Amino acid sequence: MNPLNHVAIIMDGNGRWGLKYKKSRNAGHKAGLRTVEKIIKESINKKLKYLTLYAFSTENWKRPKQEINFLFSLLENFLINKLDKLHKKNIKLKIIGIKNFSSKLNKLLIKAEKKTDKNSKLQINLALNYGSKIEIINAIKKLNKSKKKITEKNLTNFFQTKDIPDPDLLIRTGNTKRLSNFLLWQLAYSEIFFEKKLWPAFTERDFNKIIKEFKKIKRNFGNI
Ligand code: FPP
Repeated sequence: MNPLNHVAIIMDGNGRWGLKYKKSRNAGHKAGLRTVEKIIKESINKKLKYLTLYAFSTENWKRPKQEINFLFSLLENFLINKLDKLHKKNIKLKIIGIKNFSSKLNKLLIKAEKKTDKNSKLQINLALNYGSKIEIINAIKKLNKSKKKITEKNLTNFFQTKDIPDPDLLIRTGNTKRLSNFLLWQLAYSEIFFEKKLWPAFTERDFNKIIKEFKKIKRNFGNI
């Protein structure tokens, strides 16, 4: 059975769920946050070490301002209300992506990272204003400046994910089969599961079903 340390998730389908059941995309984001909480809990039960969640991409800035503001206010409230609980559960929070939000949100994110930095049960990597292509370009620029040899190790040492092992498993909900500029390098050998359900409808049971399937896969990493 495959060991499972790191699950990455593209939490797609909030908008469609919200429109279908509540006549508002934002209601879908609110419901999506409840799924986030359930999956965090289940990740601890399953003894995962890393959970990476794609919460906002570099392309998501194209959305209407009111939706963007809603998403960030949801995140702010989450950090204000849940940080202590996360800390007590020994969860470490790390942001991957470029922190260029309002000064209030930037401060909250930095505070959350600092407070939970020594925690060791589960590391949650929240991908926020994250784009894989820009991460790779920035790493190439830094490697070039460092005059170090161009090797896989030297390049990935400049990634924001440098201390995080590559995901074993990627799940994308929402019945769409694409990577949307998420961890393009890091997913090179991950097992990928596309889930039909929209993110707010995704349950612990669905999560466990995928994990069970993942464990049965023969992972070769190019070998036979
Ligand atoms: C994709 O669904 C989801 C997002 C862009 C936002 C993800 C945010 C959450 C799950 C809630 C907030 C999370 C935190 C950690 C505060 P979509 O809007 O693209 O859905 P659609 O494809 O149906 O339009």
